[in-house]
Amino acid sequence: MLNKILCCENLTKKFKNREAVSNVTFNVYEGEIFGLLGPNGAGKTTIIKMITGLSKITQGDVLICGISIKKHFEKAISNVGAIIETPTMYPFMTGKQNLKYYANLYKGITKERIDEVANLVGLKDRINDKVKTYSLGMKQRLGIAQAILHNPKILILDEPTNGLDPNGIIEIRNFLKKIARTQKISILISSHILSEMEHICDTVAIIDFGKLKQIKPIGKLVKDMTSSPKIAIKVNYPNYVGKLIMNQFKFHVEIAGQNVICDMQEKDIPKVTSFLISKKIPIFGIASVSKSLEQIFLDVVNNN
Ligand SMILES: Nc1ncnc2c1ncn2[C@@H]1O[C@H](COP(=O)(O)OP(=O)(O)O)[C@@H](O)[C@H]1O
Ligand SMILES: [Mg+2]
Repeated sequence: MLNKILCCENLTKKFKNREAVSNVTFNVYEGEIFGLLGPNGAGKTTIIKMITGLSKITQGDVLICGISIKKHFEKAISNVGAIIETPTMYPFMTGKQNLKYYANLYKGITKERIDEVANLVGLKDRINDKVKTYSLGMKQRLGIAQAILHNPKILILDEPTNGLDPNGIIEIRNFLKKIARTQKISILISSHILSEMEHICDTVAIIDFGKLKQIKPIGKLVKDMTSSPKIAIKVNYPNYVGKLIMNQFKFHVEIAGQNVICDMQEKDIPKVTSFLISKKIPIFGIASVSKSLEQIFLDVVNNN
């Protein structure tokens, strides 16, 4: 059984009388990349702020490596590296000077560790350049280097891909996986974009209106939701054709642009196309469509 690194127990946050986070419970295990997924305003940042001591816990507790942050904050938090909002760094200093500055805030961080971390985040070649010459992705990686200097057991990142271009997102994704693997560190990240989480996380918790809706291994989440593909038939008059198909076969249909999306299986295609041809309806395309990840996410949020 893997060790529990982070344990959120019935975490609740009230702002005045409004509950922004309600009874959220989840565990993050050793080496796991765990995603908090939810639309803007769902409560992700509030959860992360409570975990890192930046926001007072209204009810519940957070255990880091079994230590309660309510009872032993400093001891618990020494196992955490985090970037909430934008990381603090000095643009007129080099990447290395920034890392040294951070290293001084902790005891016992060696020069070798600074070099190791700079390498790990892929900044080896640029570490002696001033931070003001870095791209957003490079600043993001330097921020992560700062956060893991002291060898924490868990790295916490609030929406790390925000503002990055597709290449930057792939870069961050790849090296977060590398860090989790080589440093044996767990990672908690948040995002409002399911397709991004799909490629980074091992496990995803879906949060909406401050409540935890589901926790699943990402593969299972996507598989469960995409297992019933539908068939899209492209025609000139989709509303009319949709009604014809529905009346004849009793399939549930939806209209999307020029497509009639039929809730039917591949084996039904021949009889439906033969029927449409007999009615002299030109068919411009037939495709099997899985629900988009965004659609899956909305379904999960709306059906709980
Ligand atoms: N300091 C605050 N005072 C009052 N309400 C807040 C405060 N911070 C966040 N909220 C509210 O809590 C809810 C969750 O916000 P947040 O955790 O930032 O969501 P997310 O990070 O998922 O976008 C929102 O409705 C937000 O307006
Ligand atoms: Mg947020």
